[in-house]
Amino acid sequence: MSIDQSVGIDVQPAARTRTDPVTGPSYPRQHWYVVAESGEVTDQPLARRVCGDDLVLYRTAAGEVACLPDRCPHRGYPLSAGCVVDDELQCGYHGLRFATDGTCTWAPGQDRMPASANLAARPVVEVAPWVFVWMGDPAAPDLDRLTPIPWFGSAEWAVAHGVEPLDAPYGLLIDNLLDLSHETFLHGGSIGTPEVAETPITTEVAGDVVFVSRRMESVECPPFYQRATGLETPIDRWQDIEYHAPGVYLLHVRVAPAGADPLGDPRAARVEVLYAITPCDDDTTLDFWAVARNFALDDAEVQRFIGDMNRSVVLEDVAALNLIAARNRRDGGGAEVSFKIDRGGLAARRVLAAQRERENLGT
Ligand code: FES
Ligand SMILES: [Fe+2]
Repeated sequence: MSIDQSVGIDVQPAARTRTDPVTGPSYPRQHWYVVAESGEVTDQPLARRVCGDDLVLYRTAAGEVACLPDRCPHRGYPLSAGCVVDDELQCGYHGLRFATDGTCTWAPGQDRMPASANLAARPVVEVAPWVFVWMGDPAAPDLDRLTPIPWFGSAEWAVAHGVEPLDAPYGLLIDNLLDLSHETFLHGGSIGTPEVAETPITTEVAGDVVFVSRRMESVECPPFYQRATGLETPIDRWQDIEYHAPGVYLLHVRVAPAGADPLGDPRAARVEVLYAITPCDDDTTLDFWAVARNFALDDAEVQRFIGDMNRSVVLEDVAALNLIAARNRRDGGGAEVSFKIDRGGLAARRVLAAQRERENLGT
């Protein structure tokens, strides 16, 4: 379904996602969010905050990832300040122990543990390098809501990845990723060229997925793709976005010599840029990123270059969004004026609002 293309400019409420006392939490919870990179989860407890919940993760000797609430039911000590003993999480205060499923297995001076001491373990799915956590009812994870990521774990793709924290609401990151016209200005030294801002987009919505496409023909090859692929100006460059609300964003990039078939020409390169957008709470966000490529798979130099370059692009976004969030905190936020470039971001806001409304209505 196409969204309204007739609106050129309109005024929208400020891009803030603070919890509304009437409508409830500002993020949909019946979804999978990336909670950590695989390499972050070890036999040392890892504290994470997702959708306002404090969680603790650890990995068993067999490699299984466990995720429990980060609060001991005895006296509230953060379990992430404890340690892992024989695949169980031991509280650092009085030593209560919890199995991966949350069962309390031991307390000092006690043979039988009360059921009230058990914790509700959160379902996790590892699709390395990402670990997803289900933030809905822990007893009813919906695997159908897990966005497939075929480029991870495939011998035909190489992946560079990382994570950066953001002192800004997750809605600002969604706005940022759905409107790539900012590449021209914020990322001018790497991926931004004048044509990104000048080329119109098409926007569509299907269910909870927002599609935004920008197809550029015979344009400048930005430094990032020159160096990564060896292609030179002029190129045809496609940017096809799929935003799977609320937490997963896929950018399918196709670059090829101008006039060549970006899908079939052997010189064409495919780059899949992925983001996982995880609200820690109303004011902070985790920005997980990954770049998958189907060329130079074993080239350590290309791997390092793509990783370093994308991280610097992410840090440019982080700096900009932190500035906006700080300004909104200081002046309370103001009205926004939206343009054609914002159609994807506005569609994403509508999808997120509908998700939250469905949850608040219990449907
Ligand atoms: S607070 Fe955890 S064992 Fe007492
Ligand atoms: Fe950006």
